[in-house]
Parts: sequence; C-alpha cells; structure tokens
Amino acid sequence: MPPGHCAGRYLSRPMAKKPTKSSTRASKASGARKAPRGRRTGVWRTASNSDRHELYELAVQEVVSECDFIDRVSRRHRGKTTSSIREDFCGTAKACTEWARRRPTNRAIGVDLDRSVITWGEHRHRANLPESIARRITILEANVLEVETPGVEAILAMNFSYFIFKDRATLVSYFRNCLKSLAPDGILVCDAYGGSEAHSEVEEERSLDGFTYVWDQNQYNPITGDVVNHIHFRFPDGSELKRAFTYRWRLWSLPEIQDAMREAGFTKTTVYWEGTDEKSGTGNGIFRPSTRGEACAGWIAYIVAEKSRSRGRSGGAKRVRNTAKAPKK
Ligand SMILES: C[S@@+](CC[C@H](N)C(=O)[O-])C[C@H]1O[C@@H](n2cnc3c(N)ncnc32)[C@H](O)[C@@H]1O
Repeated sequence: MPPGHCAGRYLSRPMAKKPTKSSTRASKASGARKAPRGRRTGVWRTASNSDRHELYELAVQEVVSECDFIDRVSRRHRGKTTSSIREDFCGTAKACTEWARRRPTNRAIGVDLDRSVITWGEHRHRANLPESIARRITILEANVLEVETPGVEAILAMNFSYFIFKDRATLVSYFRNCLKSLAPDGILVCDAYGGSEAHSEVEEERSLDGFTYVWDQNQYNPITGDVVNHIHFRFPDGSELKRAFTYRWRLWSLPEIQDAMREAGFTKTTVYWEGTDEKSGTGNGIFRPSTRGEACAGWIAYIVAEKSRSRGRSGGAKRVRNTAKAPKK
C-alpha cells in the first residue's frame, strides 16, 4: 500500500477499540476532556455508580465482529465453518456467549485466571441464558499456559492479552500449548498493535455514551520493549475511575510473534492488515491478508496461525468490517 494510506489518526477498528491505524503522533491529553454525550436510563454515569467491567465491554469489546472474523477466516484457512472455539484470557467471556448464541452447533470454552471477572461474566452474560445455549459454554478458571482442551477448532487471544508474556520462551510455550489443544486443522487467531505511536507515552480519549474512555500508554521502555498501559474512565461530573485496568505488557512486533508461532509448531501464519478509506484516508475496518504493511504511527492487525497446512481456499479479499457501528474515533 502506498504511503499516506494511514493519513489521519481517528480510525475505526471493528473489534477491540484501543490503538488504531494512524499516521500522526497522539498528543498527550492535557486535561482537555471531551464532553461525554448521552445519559443512561435517565441517570448520569459517575465513578461511583459505574462498573468497570461494564464500561470495558462498552468501550473495548466488539464480540460480534470478533465472531464474524472467526467465521470468515475459518472459511479461508480451514475451508469450513468452525463450531468450537476457545476464548483465551476470556475475562467476562462475552465472546463465548456471542459464539454460542449464533449457531446451535457452536460450543465455546473460556479460559481466565481471575475468578472475580469470571463470576461477573456469569451473572451478566450467562445466568439468564436459555439452557440450550448455556450448556454449550464452559468457563475454566485456569492458566492458558497449562490448560488442556483437546480438539478445539479455533483459539482466540484478543485485545493483545498474550502480550502479558514478556519473554520469548514463555510466548512460545503459550503458542505450543495452544497448538496442543487445537484440532489438526485448527487455527489460532490473535491481534497485535504497533506503529511509532505505540512507542510513545501518550493518552487517547474517546467520548462514549455517558463517559469518556481513556487509553493511557503510560510507560514504554525501549530497552526491554515493556509497556505499561492504563484504561481510565471519566464522567460528566468530573469523577474518574483512574487506572480501572492496567496492563504490563511486552510490545511484541508482528515478525517476532509470527516467528514464535512457527517455533511453537504452527505451519503457517497470515497477517490481516487494515485497508484505507479512499475519501478520509483513514482505516476502513477491512482487514485483508497482507505481506506488506505501511509505516503508520499506529496500527492494529490480526494474525491467523494454522496448525497444519491450509485446506481453505487461497486468494480473494474478505471483508471483515463491522458495518453495524460507526467509526469510534
Ligand atoms: C485484557 S483482559 C482481556 C479480556 C477480553 N478477552 C478482551 O478481549 O477484551 C486480560 C484477561 O487475561 C486474564 N489473564 C492474564 N493472564 C492469564 C493467564 N496466564 N491465563 C489465563 N488468563 C489470564 C486476566 O485475568 C484478564 O481477565
């Protein structure tokens, strides 16, 4: 793609809504807060009446698009529909619920270490599900480095959660464990972010319905590649849920991730890179297999790793845009 494809920095992202493909450096938000729009059921959101998991889901997650993406890449890389998925680092396991809802043959396993977030998701998403759907969801309180779920057709690791593994040996060991749990034609699907802006200590704000989401790239260590990112939520009354979530990650590059996947035994990796909207020059939310990216200030990409050689079709672009939602930025 020619340079300039990533001009403009407020770009849509169909799934998680954190850093996005962009060309200009984010400015450190110096207290300039966007006015949150809208109210919820007649009551303004404030720090004291808000739930951080609910706000996270509203601000960050796009599980319908994630599941659409799984369906699309399954056709391409497996040559057939996927029925069973494992959502690693599942948190509230919202994607598991969406997956089980969308087809009666679908099954989902969620894996997370943190009992409190699993319990939150149980009450919010699964407690009132019809039994016919609920029985196809299993949540495991377990470490993704050790969990065993033989025969799953796709594993998802979204919102950069595997960046928690900071050394190569642990990253490879995670991918190896995924490989063990996948069916012979299974795929691992994960995302990654990067670009020059990813190496900066910057804050980005996005005004949502009744609150402001703040993505705070608080620390970057160029020697280790370690980053500390926070999510804050700000409210119309001036209150704030500061550091509602904190992520201490290693900022892995796409070649490093793909090398680690291949070292773990995956036979093929494909990067899905975002296209550019001709009119606005911003990201268009359409991710296509690509071997040539652009030196954007900020980008998000998806990686599909195949356990065994693709039996899916080759070539042909797939549209993975979430048309249901307007660009977030
Ligand atoms: C960024 S949240 C991801 C939530 C959700 N999957 C998403 O896409 O937005 C990261 C989650 O990973 C979990 N986690 C961290 N290390 C883990 C590990 N080794 N095994 C399982 N879960 C882990 C945390 O408890 C947390 O709920």
